[in-house]
Amino acid sequence: MRIVGDGSPESRQKGKLAVRAAYESGFTHFDHADIYGGGECEKLFAEVLRDIPGMRENIIITSKCGIRGKDNPISGVPARYDFSKEYILKSVDGILTRLQIDTLDILLLHRPDYLFQAEEVADAFQTLQDAGKVRYFGVSNFKPSQLTLLQSACPMPLITNQVEINVHNINALLDGTLDQCQQEHISPQAWCPLGGVVYPAWGNTFSPEDEARIKAEFDRQAKKYDTENWIIMLTWLLKHPAGIFPIIGTTNSNRIKASLQALKIPYSREDWYSLLEARNGQPVP
Ligand SMILES: NC(=O)c1ccc[n+]([C@@H]2O[C@H](COP(=O)([O-])OP(=O)(O)OC[C@H]3O[C@@H](n4cnc5c(N)ncnc54)[C@H](OP(=O)(O)O)[C@@H]3O)[C@@H](O)[C@H]2O)c1
Repeated sequence: MRIVGDGSPESRQKGKLAVRAAYESGFTHFDHADIYGGGECEKLFAEVLRDIPGMRENIIITSKCGIRGKDNPISGVPARYDFSKEYILKSVDGILTRLQIDTLDILLLHRPDYLFQAEEVADAFQTLQDAGKVRYFGVSNFKPSQLTLLQSACPMPLITNQVEINVHNINALLDGTLDQCQQEHISPQAWCPLGGVVYPAWGNTFSPEDEARIKAEFDRQAKKYDTENWIIMLTWLLKHPAGIFPIIGTTNSNRIKASLQALKIPYSREDWYSLLEARNGQPVP
């Protein structure tokens, strides 16, 4: 969740209420990154942890590192990815300080650093695990080959790959990401799961005709299962045998609670394919 919103006191309060609503509804996994809100999201989350006794022990906290903005640390350097040991260790110290916790449950490398050296990353992970600063490790936006490369150097298992999956972006179904996850027992997490349903997905290529056709199928299914279109999208993701975890980004407490409907819908294989057909604009060959 991008819980600080625009940073105003009202947005911050809404964000805190959203975290509380999620926790009270039974959500146990919270996704962060060192860059979300420039670190302010992690700091706000720490305030909620302080407010709710026992919450820390009952949840899993993920954060990510590896993206460096331009001008960091000196003016003139470009935006880049940095998986050097020094930067990973420094980033985790920042995450722990902002979240006000001793141990991060899961650390993800946010986007693949084209210059990453697998042994160096493995060394950083081992150092963090030995120091009790991180329990588990994973990646985000990695291609299967990049995950395989990193895993080949790491003694500990990489437990997740967080990638964009939604009705617009189905690359993970096609490029081997979900196959690898299923085979290696890696949990795939879907970011922007509602892209193309409640807002245009990143790099939207759907035409107005595509959108109308896809919406008509969502409408049909939502009526059939007595729910809403965005819930059908979550159900579609949950149906995949790799065990996709949708990372929902809403800060609306009612929507957070409503999203749980997706877990209960007896979604059929036929409807899964009907939505794919509507998305593709043609039947499978
Ligand atoms: N690893 C990565 O590279 C990466 C990249 C992007 C995101 N992420 C993670 O993934 C999380 C989810 O991504 P996301 O925030 O794009 O997820 P999302 O759940 O696809 O979208 C959330 C947005 O949709 C709106 N929304 C949700 N339900 C709606 C509805 N029924 N009608 C209208 N609007 C609705 C929300 O507004 P309201 O708040 O008003 O409901 C919010 O603006 C992020 O918070 C972040 O943790 C990771």
